[in-house]
Amino acid sequence: MSNQTNQVVRRTTISDLAAMKKRGEKWAMLTCYEQITAGIFDEAGIPVLLVGDSAGNNFLGEENTIPVTVDELIMLTRAVVRASEKALVVADLPFGSYESGPEAALATSIRFFKEAKAHAVKLEGGASKVPQIKKLIESGIPVMGHLGLTPQSVHALGGFKVQGRGADGDRIKQDARELAAAGVFAIVLELVPEELASEISAELDIPIIGIGAGKGCDAQVLVWTDLMGLTVGAPKLAKAYRNLRKEMVDAATEWSKDVASGQFPGADQTFH
Ligand code: KIV
Repeated sequence: MSNQTNQVVRRTTISDLAAMKKRGEKWAMLTCYEQITAGIFDEAGIPVLLVGDSAGNNFLGEENTIPVTVDELIMLTRAVVRASEKALVVADLPFGSYESGPEAALATSIRFFKEAKAHAVKLEGGASKVPQIKKLIESGIPVMGHLGLTPQSVHALGGFKVQGRGADGDRIKQDARELAAAGVFAIVLELVPEELASEISAELDIPIIGIGAGKGCDAQVLVWTDLMGLTVGAPKLAKAYRNLRKEMVDAATEWSKDVASGQFPGADQTFH
């Protein structure tokens, strides 16, 4: 594909991310659930967009990620792929769509590849998910892992709490090694102590993407509504770079007042 100045535009690939790890270049991944933000984040040069199942509690009005369905995420992923030109688009495999085994993981991922044209998938879990990961990679589907606080297991974990403190850190480290050996191209490490995330990032050759995992990771990911200050009660791991919630409330209030007072539509919005 080429843009208006005839420069060739191409998407980030997993080889680009591997090369960035080698060069020690850090990068950013953002969640994205629809076309407007896909276009904006692509224009901003965000190299990887994650159609996360955090769409559940940030887009679909659910309490958490657990109820999100494959059909819902396929529709959102398709919009993000269509509206972006440069980003690698990773789709989350929803809870219930891959746990039962490699064949289930493959069937779900094939739907994401064919129906949404995703470029990679992400799944949660450690050593127990290695058979699924191997099956996907053998079938030509790049896989991103996700360790630490894995939101699909929030009930088993007893809430959204820091994972991998003390001896539990060894389990997460071992899981990371096994995922890397199985061939994942990157791992998200969520809500773990900075020291643990730094050690894993230093040991493994693949990019480690932190969220609430400190500065030592190769990349960082945030939920886009947290970054832009739209989320009410955003988690401590997020930083709001803007207050778009206030901007939007103010704009909607101003417009509705103008409608009530007869100031909108004005001459510019009127046809004769
Ligand atoms: O679903 C999601 O948004 C995620 C990120 C928080 C990594 O998994």
